[in-house]
Amino acid sequence: MQIDIITLFPAMLTGFLSESMMGRAQEKDLVKIETHDLRKWGEGKWQITDDRPFGGGAGMLLKPEPLCEAIDSVRKKESLTIYLTPDGEPFNHEMAVALSKESHLVLVSGHYEGIDQRVRESRIDREVSIGDYVLTNGTLPAAVLVDAVVRQIPGVLGAEKSLTQDSFQRNVLGFPQYTRPVEFDGMRVPEVLLSGNHKEIERWREERALEKTRERRPDLFSTKDT
Ligand code: ADE
Repeated sequence: MQIDIITLFPAMLTGFLSESMMGRAQEKDLVKIETHDLRKWGEGKWQITDDRPFGGGAGMLLKPEPLCEAIDSVRKKESLTIYLTPDGEPFNHEMAVALSKESHLVLVSGHYEGIDQRVRESRIDREVSIGDYVLTNGTLPAAVLVDAVVRQIPGVLGAEKSLTQDSFQRNVLGFPQYTRPVEFDGMRVPEVLLSGNHKEIERWREERALEKTRERRPDLFSTKDT
């Protein structure tokens, strides 16, 4: 899989792309991720990429010409081009799984008040939001999408098992976890986890997970598929 990210702030992604899982996935050739500085396609001596909106109003918009040139220079016939925006489709586990099966993603992160509508209509296949809050630009949302998608690529996570245990794979939140020491700050690890009785442990975990889901995310039960 290949992912190209077009942004005005490529430096925001440097550490994210080289560290931990994202770094390892690329070393293992499971994914190739490239960032592209939109400024490179900016106009004139000042490499301008934005302008005022017609009709007035606060803020600036990304101009269509530099953005379209940037997109056209990286996209291919098989690419899926995604614009990160608070008014996009809500991102979720299902979408991450579906996107992990694509061969090429082009991610466009907006800035200011957004991008010219004609770019959305002519170049963008999907518009995605990472949640109901507004960030200062779409670069972190692009990173969030990349992280969730890349960990779904077979071979990226050490143990494939970790994927099947994902909370949102089965719409149940995680159970409480403990490691050594057995006693910490006056709190003991629940006895059942020390018992070696795998059936009991499994049952305890399932009960705690369902309890937490009922308390925090009752909405998940209406879409529960297991
Ligand atoms: N850009 C700014 N806020 C965003 C959000 N919540 N999701 C996607 N892109 C964004």
